[in-house]
Amino acid sequence: MKLIIDTDPGIDDAMAIAYAAAASEFNLIGLTTVFGNTHVHQSSRNARFLLDKLGLDLPVAEGASYPLGADTHAPSEHVHGPEGFGDLTEIPEIGQNHALPAAEFLVEMARTHKGELVVCAVGPLTNIANAMRLDPEFADNLRQLVIMGGAVYCPGNITQHAEANIYHDALAAEEVFSTPPNTVLVGLDVTLKTLYETADFEALAQRSPDMGSFLRDISRFYLKFYKEIGGLEGCGLHDSTAVIACSHQAMFNMVETGLRVVTDGDMMGATQPDPERPTIRVCCDVDEAGVVRLFTDRVASLP
Ligand code: RIB
Ligand code: CA
Repeated sequence: MKLIIDTDPGIDDAMAIAYAAAASEFNLIGLTTVFGNTHVHQSSRNARFLLDKLGLDLPVAEGASYPLGADTHAPSEHVHGPEGFGDLTEIPEIGQNHALPAAEFLVEMARTHKGELVVCAVGPLTNIANAMRLDPEFADNLRQLVIMGGAVYCPGNITQHAEANIYHDALAAEEVFSTPPNTVLVGLDVTLKTLYETADFEALAQRSPDMGSFLRDISRFYLKFYKEIGGLEGCGLHDSTAVIACSHQAMFNMVETGLRVVTDGDMMGATQPDPERPTIRVCCDVDEAGVVRLFTDRVASLP
């Protein structure tokens, strides 16, 4: 399965990229980066650092710095750390970004791999909205769009109503959901069930001394946030769960509904079922133990 991950690495993004590298189902075509957990230049630097660490020579196409119609963004430093990798602050610039901006890269790859490309968006949907604006055929060229985002039948995480990726660019999300490709939404409804605990990270580090230890080390900051803010003993495998949903949809229960996104006011970023909207598939339950096991076994196969 040809895959591009649109990402804002970000600790759980790093876990998802490692999983995609280890999972034999995927032919990872490249990464596109977006603001979100980080500033977009940090996302791109972190993405190139991760691919180098994984031994992958793949394109990283840099995307949006800000949400649609905005010229500022405040990264989630309190969740992912000042440089996006928890306490790790010295992250080298390795290689350089692809010549094309993310939206153009996504459009070109969707045309080149017409009907075969899955895009997994695990950050704000700005690049996806821009690709749809750039090429009216982009949505139809995709095999599937799998989104980590939304909180449809559960509370949000960045506000009580909204999940962070949708909240960070509600206008982009509203545009995407108004004329969606073949889309699966992997929201907090399932990703707060797939928690990864300290003991899981330690076991992973034992089995994968390089990548597993790296993910354990950068996740300490993330685990502390979940403990302090949510009283949780683990962190959400948000982005890895979405990548797993690209290839293992039988592990999820889904409902079909249209979605509308609230784009202003106190409920900004809320994802609301709307029968008037084109149908997408919303994950509402998951084999959480199976996802955690699959993640661990695949990433543990890395050096
Ligand atoms: O709400 C969780 C999502 O927001 C994840 O993609 C995480 O990386 C952040 O981007
Ligand atoms: Ca993310």
